[in-house]
Amino acid sequence: MTAEASIIRPVRPGDAPALRRMREEAGWDVEKVPAWIAASLSGERPTWVAELGGEAVGMVSLELVDPDPEVADGLGVAAVTSLSVLATAARRGIGRALTVFAEDQARARGVRVLTLNTRPTNGAALALYEGLGYRRWKEQERSWGRAVFLRKSLCE
Ligand SMILES: CC(C)(COP(=O)(O)OP(=O)(O)OC[C@H]1O[C@@H](n2cnc3c(N)ncnc32)[C@H](O)[C@@H]1OP(=O)(O)O)[C@@H](O)C(=O)NCCC(=O)NCCS
Repeated sequence: MTAEASIIRPVRPGDAPALRRMREEAGWDVEKVPAWIAASLSGERPTWVAELGGEAVGMVSLELVDPDPEVADGLGVAAVTSLSVLATAARRGIGRALTVFAEDQARARGVRVLTLNTRPTNGAALALYEGLGYRRWKEQERSWGRAVFLRKSLCE
């Protein structure tokens, strides 16, 4: 992240409006925001928020289980999901910092392989992920459309 005052912390119930804003900007559904905050507080699906100047401007989640065990199996494989940064805070390294933070959190939970997925047309996300060493390994349909999957070993 840049020298501007910024922190990454666990999501709090009061973050709901900011999370909705992030997801609206990204073109994603917002209905799940309250359930996700609850799932983070219970430890089931941890979510963290990046603050810039005291405002929540970015988020990332760690999905520990997915219907596809290659994506997250509740053991050594987990997925970084829901990465989003408000346009007003873009290109300051916050998306990269959130991804690296999620990696550290995953490692501390015993995760050995992290996966990610995004639309094949999302050049910004792909550049960010490939820049951090994630490699493409498959494309598949998800509920929201075609997804390209990337993964990275945390053991190297
Ligand atoms: C993708 C996203 C998270 C990037 O967040 P960000 O904080 O602006 O990204 P960073 O400043 O950390 O950028 C890290 C790298 O990502 C790439 N990148 C980020 N935005 C980019 C853009 N608009 N165009 C091309 N590359 C981009 C660059 O390689 C960049 O490195 P550099 O700045 O050293 O060139 C943000 O644009 C976003 O929330 N988009 C909508 C939701 C989304 O697509 N989420 C991720 C996929 S599910």
